[in-house]
Amino acid sequence: MCGIIGYLGERSAAPIIMDSLKRLEYRGYDSAGVAIFDQDAGDLSVVKSASKVDTLVERLTEEMPAGRVGMGHTRWATHGRPTLINAHPHSDCTNKVVVIHNGIIENFAELRRELQAKRHVFVSETDTEVVPHLIEENFKGDLVTAVRESLRRLRGAYAMVIFSQHDPDLLIGARLNAPLVVGVGEKEWFIASDITAVIPYTKKVLLLGEGEMVAISSLGPQVSSMDGASVKPKIIDVKWDISQAQKGGYPHFMAKEINESADAVSNALRGRLADDGEVTLEEFGFTDRQLLKVRDIKMVAAGTSFYAALLGKYIIEDLARIPVEVEPASEFRYRQPIIDQDTLVVGISQSGETADTLAAIREARRLKAKVVSVTNVVGSSMALESDGVVYLHSGPEIGVASSKTFIAHITCLYLLGIRLAAVRHRLDPTRLKQLTAELKALPAAVQKVLDRAEVLQKLARKYAGYRNFMYIGRGINYPIALEGALKLKEISYLHAEGYAAGELKHGPIALLDKNFPVFAIATQGATLEKMVSNIQEVIARDAPVAALVTDGDHVLDEVAADRVEVPAVSEFLSPIPNVVALQLFAYFVACERGCNVDQPRNLAKSVTVE
Ligand code: AGP
Repeated sequence: MCGIIGYLGERSAAPIIMDSLKRLEYRGYDSAGVAIFDQDAGDLSVVKSASKVDTLVERLTEEMPAGRVGMGHTRWATHGRPTLINAHPHSDCTNKVVVIHNGIIENFAELRRELQAKRHVFVSETDTEVVPHLIEENFKGDLVTAVRESLRRLRGAYAMVIFSQHDPDLLIGARLNAPLVVGVGEKEWFIASDITAVIPYTKKVLLLGEGEMVAISSLGPQVSSMDGASVKPKIIDVKWDISQAQKGGYPHFMAKEINESADAVSNALRGRLADDGEVTLEEFGFTDRQLLKVRDIKMVAAGTSFYAALLGKYIIEDLARIPVEVEPASEFRYRQPIIDQDTLVVGISQSGETADTLAAIREARRLKAKVVSVTNVVGSSMALESDGVVYLHSGPEIGVASSKTFIAHITCLYLLGIRLAAVRHRLDPTRLKQLTAELKALPAAVQKVLDRAEVLQKLARKYAGYRNFMYIGRGINYPIALEGALKLKEISYLHAEGYAAGELKHGPIALLDKNFPVFAIATQGATLEKMVSNIQEVIARDAPVAALVTDGDHVLDEVAADRVEVPAVSEFLSPIPNVVALQLFAYFVACERGCNVDQPRNLAKSVTVE
C-alpha cells in the first residue's frame, strides 16, 4: 500500500529519503510528501506533491531542506482522494508533531469527533490525521508515553513513523497489522515499510514484531511493546543486493524481472533438490512425522499468488495424492473454514504482507492448523507468523505486476509437492528421477522463451488494438490462462478473461466474434487434441486466435492461428515456460498502448488493507 521511510543519523536526511521513496513508489503513487527537521535552525519543513514522487523530487531539488532527521511517504489512497491536502505527512494543530502512515485506522471517525469536541482542527479527509492530534492531546512532557497512549486508542492497521519537535532527537516507528522494518547503519537508522528502501544503506535489518514500537535516538533503537515492556530486538542480515532493485538497463522493472525468470527458477531450486530427487527446504521446519499427519491441504492467496496456489493443487494432488483446496484468502477468513490440527494451510504471497492472506493464516492458526508460507520476503509478517516458511529467493520484485515471483512460487510448489510425496512414498523412483532432471533443465527452457521475445513483441503489435481477449487452457495450464488474462488486464487495461477451454462452449463462446481474439495454450499434453477442437470452434466464430505450441509441433499447421513456439518440456512443467511467454505478450501489449507498465493505475504492489 503506502510506502514509508524515516531517517535519523549524521547525514543530510532529504536526499536519502528521496532516494528511498523512489524505491518504495511501487507500493503506491497517488501522492507523496516529506518532513525534514533542521536541528540547527529548529525548523520543520513539510513538502508535499499531489502526484508522484518525481514531482516531489523536482520541488525538493530546487530547495533541499536541511536536517538530519526526517520522513517520507508515497501514498495509495484509502480515506480521502489523492489531493495535496490528503498527502502525508499529517500534523497536529501546532505543527509540532508529524506522522506518516500505511494502513487503515478503522475507528478514526469516532476519534476525530472526540478530538474535534476538544477543539482540534482537522484539515484533511484522511484517517491518519487523528494520530498527530491524539499525540498532541496526550503529550504531558514525555513523547514516547504520549505516542504509546495514542496508539493504544487505534483500531485497524498501521505502520507509522512519528516525529515531534517536543523531542527532536527521537524518531519513533510503530506497527500493527502492517509491515515495518528498521535498517541499522553506522550511526544512522532507517524506518521503512520494506527492505528495498534501505538496502543501499545497510543490510542489517531489525524486524519489528506485531504491536511493537521503536524509539530511535543517537544511542540507537529501543524496542518496546504497546504496554511499555522492553523487547529484545530481532536483527537479521539481508542477502538482497542493491543492483536487484535497479532497472539495470531495461526500460521497465517488469522487463527486467521477466528476464530474470530463468534465474528465479534456479534460485528457488538452489541447494534444495539433490540429484536423487531428495528435497531439503531450509526454513520449512516440519518433520516427516508431522507431514505424515497432514490429512488435507488448504491454500490461501490473492491475485497472481492465488493462481500460483491453483497450480499448487494440480502439483501436490498429482505428486503427493493429498487433497488440496484453494481459496482466495479474502473469502477463506470469513466463512468458517473446516480445518483442524491435521490440515496444512499453505499461504502463498510474494510480499508476505497481503492483509487478506495474513489474516487467513492467522485464522488457520487460531483453528489449530499448521501453517507454511511460501513467500519472497525474509522476515515478512507471514514468514514470522507461520510454523514453516519456503522462501522464493527471487530478490526484490519492484514491478507492481508479479512476474518472476510467480515462476518462483510454482517452482517452490513443485519442491513442496516432492517433499510431501517423499514422506508418503508416493513417488515412483523412475518418475522422481525424471522430474528431478526436468526441473534442473527448466531454467534453460525458460531462457529459450526469453530469447524469443521478439516473436511475442511482433504478436503484441498485431493484437494491441483489440479491446477484449479470452485466454484458454486445459489441465495444469488452466491456471496459466487465468494468470495470462490477469497480466494483460493489470498492465494494459484491456478486458481479458481466462477460461478452462472446455468451458468455453458452455457460455463465453457467445462473446466471440472477429473483434474478440482468443489466446490458446496448446502445448503438448494429454488434452491437446481437445484443445485443437476448441480452437476450431473459436475459428468457426471468426475470432482471431494466437496459440502457444510446442517447438516443432505441427498440430495447428492447418489452422488459421498465430503460433508462438515454446520449448518442449513435460506437460507437468509446461506452466512455467508458457507463462513467461504470456507475461512477455502482456508486457509488449502494454508498451504498445503506452501504459505505465511498472505502476499500473489503481494498483499497489503490496495490499496491506482488506
Ligand atoms: C500481481 O500481478 C498483482 N499485482 C496482485 O494480484 C498480487 O499478486 C496480489 O496482490 C498478492 O500479492 P502477494 O503475492 O504479495 O500476496
